[in-house]
Amino acid sequence: MSSLPLADQVAVVTGGARGIGAAIAARLRADGATVVVFDRAPDEGRPAVDVTDEHAVQAAVAEVVARHGRIDVLVNNAGVYPHVPFEAMTLDTWRAVMGLNLDGVFVCSRAVFPVMREQGYGRIVNIVSSTFFIGQRCLTAYVASKGGVIGFTRALATEAGPLGITVNAVAPGLIDTRGAAAADPLFDEVVGAQAIGRAGAPNDVAEAVAYVVTPAAGFITGQTINVDGGHRYH
Ligand SMILES: NC(=O)c1ccc[n+]([C@@H]2O[C@H](COP(=O)([O-])OP(=O)(O)OC[C@H]3O[C@@H](n4cnc5c(N)ncnc54)[C@H](O)[C@@H]3O)[C@@H](O)[C@H]2O)c1
Repeated sequence: MSSLPLADQVAVVTGGARGIGAAIAARLRADGATVVVFDRAPDEGRPAVDVTDEHAVQAAVAEVVARHGRIDVLVNNAGVYPHVPFEAMTLDTWRAVMGLNLDGVFVCSRAVFPVMREQGYGRIVNIVSSTFFIGQRCLTAYVASKGGVIGFTRALATEAGPLGITVNAVAPGLIDTRGAAAADPLFDEVVGAQAIGRAGAPNDVAEAVAYVVTPAAGFITGQTINVDGGHRYH
């Protein structure tokens, strides 16, 4: 019998084709889980799944259950962070950010929740952002969307707890990914306000997620865990 913490478990990671999501997927695999990635970018042997498309997500979840029998872990990681000064922000851009970062979390959680309820076990982790605590400029839609997910996390945790399901958020600080490279001008500023003077790596986030999805973390729920090098918030 394997002693890996996620042996015989099945995990779904959204946005797992690259960046933080890819690191989380690799980390959960190393802990013994069968990991299925839902990403809009298709890959060999993996069809594209747009997490804002409710029917596509429901079909993908049904496919995972048909093939693997269960879903123990859901990591809602897919997200976008366009830097737009407030007066350049359009309602279309605002809605696109909310549609993925907030609605996408709802759509995936809603689709997986009945599977976890039936099992009497589940771990949902939402990847949010330390910018929620900073209020970083040019990110109004993004910060609002992540604040929404932090609220969603707390609220869903209260309904999920009696069913054996925990719901937590992990809030990365600045993490060195291809997506974040677009935010280059903020690198020095953000890193300068941290206790640990470097940008985070995707693996720094994956380590926190890997702990909170273990069966051993069953008394931790409704929380937002910051993985931000000790950023000093104002
Ligand atoms: N990189 C950072 O500095 C940082 C900091 C804090 C929080 N985060 C959060 O971490 C998460 C991942 O960030 P990242 O930097 O790895 O991003 P990234 O842009 O490198 O990767 C995002 C992934 O999500 C996928 N994706 C985008 N839209 C999708 C959709 N509609 N359906 C399915 N998949 C979709 C993309 O194809 C890509 O594989 C995001 O939620 C982001 O807000 C990132």
